[in-house]
Amino acid sequence: MSFGTGCNRRLAYSIKLRIFLSVFIALFFLILIKDSILYDFYIPREPIDSKKALHWSGDPIAKGDPRWQEADIFAEVFIYSAHYDDIGLSPLIRVIGIALDPLPYFFVKCRYYEYQDGPVVYSVSGEVLHMRERNGRSYLGAYVECPLDESYNFLPYALTVDKGNNSENLNFMIINYSRDVLLPPIERTSTESEYSTEDYEDTVSEFDEDYSDVAPFDWQWNITRCFPAFHMGYDDHIMLAEMVAVSRLLGVQHFVFYVKNAGKHVLDMLEVLKAQGDAEVLPWNLNLSEQNLYYAGQFASINDCLYRHLWTSRFLLFADADEIFVPRDQPSLFSLLDEQFAENPECGAYLFLNVFFNLRFPTAVPRKGNKTTLNFLQRLKVLTHTRRHKEVLGPAIRSKPAVDPRRVHTGSVHIIQKFRDGYETCVMSRYKGLLHHYRDFPEPPLDEQENDPYLWEIFADIVAETKMILDEYDEMVK
Ligand SMILES: *[C@@H]1O[C@H](CO)[C@@H](O)[C@H](O)[C@H]1NC(C)=O
Ligand SMILES: *[C@@H]1O[C@H](CO)[C@@H](O)[C@H](O)[C@H]1NC(C)=O
Ligand SMILES: *[C@@H]1O[C@H](CO)[C@@H](O)[C@H](O)[C@H]1NC(C)=O
Ligand SMILES: *[C@@H]1O[C@H](CO)[C@@H](O)[C@H](O)[C@H]1NC(C)=O
Ligand SMILES: *[C@@H]1O[C@H](CO)[C@@H](O)[C@H](O)[C@H]1NC(C)=O
Repeated sequence: MSFGTGCNRRLAYSIKLRIFLSVFIALFFLILIKDSILYDFYIPREPIDSKKALHWSGDPIAKGDPRWQEADIFAEVFIYSAHYDDIGLSPLIRVIGIALDPLPYFFVKCRYYEYQDGPVVYSVSGEVLHMRERNGRSYLGAYVECPLDESYNFLPYALTVDKGNNSENLNFMIINYSRDVLLPPIERTSTESEYSTEDYEDTVSEFDEDYSDVAPFDWQWNITRCFPAFHMGYDDHIMLAEMVAVSRLLGVQHFVFYVKNAGKHVLDMLEVLKAQGDAEVLPWNLNLSEQNLYYAGQFASINDCLYRHLWTSRFLLFADADEIFVPRDQPSLFSLLDEQFAENPECGAYLFLNVFFNLRFPTAVPRKGNKTTLNFLQRLKVLTHTRRHKEVLGPAIRSKPAVDPRRVHTGSVHIIQKFRDGYETCVMSRYKGLLHHYRDFPEPPLDEQENDPYLWEIFADIVAETKMILDEYDEMVK
């Protein structure tokens, strides 16, 4: 009896074990092929017409300037810009692009030039890689990493990227050096082996401290703000003016816009901001549908801005035009970021938490101010929409990052995709800083609202700065 029971138990146990194992294995494979099930079978793969994809109706773009171009004749990889990236162990040229998912090929030829229309000085094999995990679209943001050959004592002026034979001259990119690079980039001795690892690490950490504690050179800008490409005819020029006005007052010194397409008002406003000297506007001649590429290629623009401003700016901010980074316990965004990054040297980026200032909520105007000012104020959103959702959303849920560009390898929309070694994500305390998001949003119940007229503290400055921008706009469109 006892023998039989033991045997039955063992049998039952072994069946359970087998069932468990099969379920486990099945689950394991399911996880492995999940992406393919979810996406691969549904990715629309209708051939893209490169001419249509690269359509541009704005001013002509000079040869070599940032613009979308083909890397091959089958619309498999498109490239936009090339940046000198000297943060890793050996400097390289980082090309910003998009590539089909799955990657159609892994290697390309990078050919370096000394001047426009000059001969190829040397060429190397470059690697194509996606910036991010798949998202069901046929194209994903991508890098082409082109190494530099240090035996040529030469910093290239431009490069082309192509699949190899018979496909030269499809593109041409002037390389962007975000700071002056001294030649040779690394002091060389007769043999490489003279550098011990220890020496090297010492150099790296000294270098790290150098720029975070005391800048070894003057930053061109303390804070630069980057925006994803305007598309779908975006035309809210007043919100754009308000956002720029408030951001300037809080310490943003430079604005980087990409334009796929925008309405006439916004295009004119961008001209005004350019003329005022703190806006940079880059063409985004990429006409791909949402099915083919997520949000007009936001990943590519984020990382173009990251590398374009690798060394120009102490901090970069990434967000949309209806969002404003607001320091909540001090007047300056710069001093807030400076303080937070200094106190937490492991932080590569701070996520600012999102709070909705709902455009459906009732508006209010400050008591101070004369009639003219109050009349003008009625046109503005930021000062009249003081009611917000009580809830501050959590990190990664619509949060937007402020980054030290030298500590981030690849940016993303609400989080950071990849850090440089040793750095991590930090979250800005909601009492120190918030992302004000001015948006028309389904109304939550009344008790979940809150009055938050924080920006009224600089009400007069905001009115004056916005009025100055809108006056120049009126002057220009007259
Ligand atoms: C943009 O792409 C769409 C879809 O491929 C195409 O129908 C349209 O003609 C393109 N627009 C231009 C101006 O090329
Ligand atoms: C391709 O390039 C390689 C080396 O660059 C050369 O040896 C080969 O002949 C080329 N093939 C064609 C078809 O041009
Ligand atoms: C590099 O990028 C910055 C910012 O866009 C721009 O001001 C500068 O002219 C560029 N330099 C080169 C050499 O392209
Ligand atoms: C950045 O801010 C510091 C501290 O306020 C200031 O000394 C410095 O001049 C600023 N740099 C630029 C480029 O404005
Ligand atoms: C109203 O206030 C603004 C800003 O303080 C001032 O520039 C303007 O002259 C005032 N207008 C009148 C009519 O008092």
